[in-house]
Amino acid sequence: MSKTVTPYNDTRGKKEQVEEMFDNIAHRYDFLNHLLTMGIDITWRKKAVKYIGRIQPKMILDVASGTGDFAFEALSLKPEKVIGFDLSEGMMKYGREKAIKLSVSNVVEFVKGDSEKMPFADNSFDAITVGFGVRNFENLEVGLKEMHRVIRTGGKVAILEASMPKNAINRALFSLYFGKIVPVVGKLFSKDARAYSYLPESVKVFPEGLEFVKILENIGFRKVDWQPLTFGACAFYTMEK
Ligand SMILES: C[S@@+](CC[C@H](N)C(=O)[O-])C[C@H]1O[C@@H](n2cnc3c(N)ncnc32)[C@H](O)[C@@H]1O
Repeated sequence: MSKTVTPYNDTRGKKEQVEEMFDNIAHRYDFLNHLLTMGIDITWRKKAVKYIGRIQPKMILDVASGTGDFAFEALSLKPEKVIGFDLSEGMMKYGREKAIKLSVSNVVEFVKGDSEKMPFADNSFDAITVGFGVRNFENLEVGLKEMHRVIRTGGKVAILEASMPKNAINRALFSLYFGKIVPVVGKLFSKDARAYSYLPESVKVFPEGLEFVKILENIGFRKVDWQPLTFGACAFYTMEK
């Protein structure tokens, strides 16, 4: 079992700290996300949406939706409903504003809650997306089991998560950028001293690649596969129920 890394290293549970952290940085989240990845995060979500698009999903759940970038990207599939589900009201406030701006509030709906105990019936979604969320779960396996419960048989799940490149040179360059530059830029813009230090710390201890594939298979997902994106800075996991 890997060590638990929490945003503020205090005595509260990880969930509570994660909610507070995202509420704190919500006003700068989209800006920093696109700045720190140089906009490449958009191409990662597009790729993931293309994968779930193979089954033309009508009901889509975007777990750990935040400000909803994945949920809005999924609109290209012309679904009936996309639910953006998240712990942080602060993040979803920006998602709801975007939905109004895009005139899609009738399709994209944001629901507050914990991915470890979702208020949805078994087998209620055709597809699930999770962008940079699973690493923040307090109990990873409970959250993954809930995803397995609410997706229908044959439904597809796409998970994106930040990761560490395997190649030694890429890894060294990435560690420098991620471990030294990102925390400084993040702190400067978000005004949360810990949020962008927690980011590399939490990536370091998260099970990635084949280790995460094993966990997903043990939960019961089928056809689990993964691929590194952008020199391994992002890991893309695909699976079916
Ligand atoms: C890094 S943001 C990702 C936002 C968005 N998915 C994206 O692609 O940019 C992670 C989100 O996960 C949410 N989160 C973390 N743990 C959660 C949980 N247990 N249940 C629901 N949401 C959670 C946080 O509130 C935060 O909005």
